[in-house]
Amino acid sequence: MSIAEAVAHLERGALVAFPTETVYGLGADASNPTAIAALYAAKGRPADHPVIVHLGSIQQLANLAIDVPPWAMRLATQCWPGPMTLVVRRHGDVVCDAVTGGRQTVGVRVPNHPVALELLKKFGRGIAAPSANRFGKVSPTTAAHVLADFDDEIAMVLDGGPCTVGVESTIVDASTDEPRMLRVGALTKERIEAIIGCPVALLNDGQIAAPGALAAHYSPKCRVELVTSDTIEARMRALMNSGTRVAVLVPASVSTEFPSQITRLRSPASDDDYARTLYTRLRQADDEETQVLLVVPPEPVGIGAAVLDRLQRAATVSP
Ligand code: TXA
Ligand code: MG
Repeated sequence: MSIAEAVAHLERGALVAFPTETVYGLGADASNPTAIAALYAAKGRPADHPVIVHLGSIQQLANLAIDVPPWAMRLATQCWPGPMTLVVRRHGDVVCDAVTGGRQTVGVRVPNHPVALELLKKFGRGIAAPSANRFGKVSPTTAAHVLADFDDEIAMVLDGGPCTVGVESTIVDASTDEPRMLRVGALTKERIEAIIGCPVALLNDGQIAAPGALAAHYSPKCRVELVTSDTIEARMRALMNSGTRVAVLVPASVSTEFPSQITRLRSPASDDDYARTLYTRLRQADDEETQVLLVVPPEPVGIGAAVLDRLQRAATVSP
């Protein structure tokens, strides 16, 4: 694995997938419109869906943002490098229009992964990177996941091992005076409110401010159904009686015995483990040719809220 090689690919406008603590990103030079066009084409992503720009340090923020409110600077100082994206008012033309979907704002994050940070520092400019999966599909948390979705479209994947967080960053809109959360993630609402000292609205319906955070997203091929530890057994029996191939994903605390024809995916040992392994489990369900995956989600506390959010989106059938 060579960072120098990855930098050379980015310089010539090619795409490089790289690890972050949340999920793998599909990177392109944020200042190169041709590279960004290739990025959107590879992902199959609609042109009006903005992409997050990754930076190697907080100091670079001033190159592409203006009027960052003091509370947002506090968040950046305390949470970067880390699983938080700030949407800020865009400054100048350091990032090309296609990155922001033509908006006057830009999403920015300093990821907390040694490989990502070294790449960003050596490249020296912003790297635009959505999650390295095809549009609407499950995000990748290993290099192998990236290679399952992409082939010749990308120049290389830097393999940094499995991602330690496992779900995408928390997005905070800092483009107005009123702080709003656009996507839940590992950085919790409670922690954000503690840092900025006031309540934060959660705008999580996907349409208004974070195009791309569509309801139906993060979807495996199988149908995902959310159940409780009380309802799972009856639902499982009904599906089995109709000849459906069923897999289950339940926390270790659920004691239901499952018949041998049911695929029981490994139970998460904790909410952190649930987040870290979620996308691997959704991919595994597809590998087992599951038709319906029954899931008992975690409690919506801490990172459990982000896991529940992704599961609800995975369970939403596309129109
Ligand atoms: O953890 C993450 O954030 C990962 C890693 C690779 O950093 N990236 C990621 O990117 O999840 P992506 O493209 O899958 O999701 C980016 C989200 C989209 O929902 C997009 O709408 C929102 O960020 N976003 C980006 N720029 C924005 C902007 N200027 N205004 C509003 N939303 C923005
Ligand atoms: Mg994504």
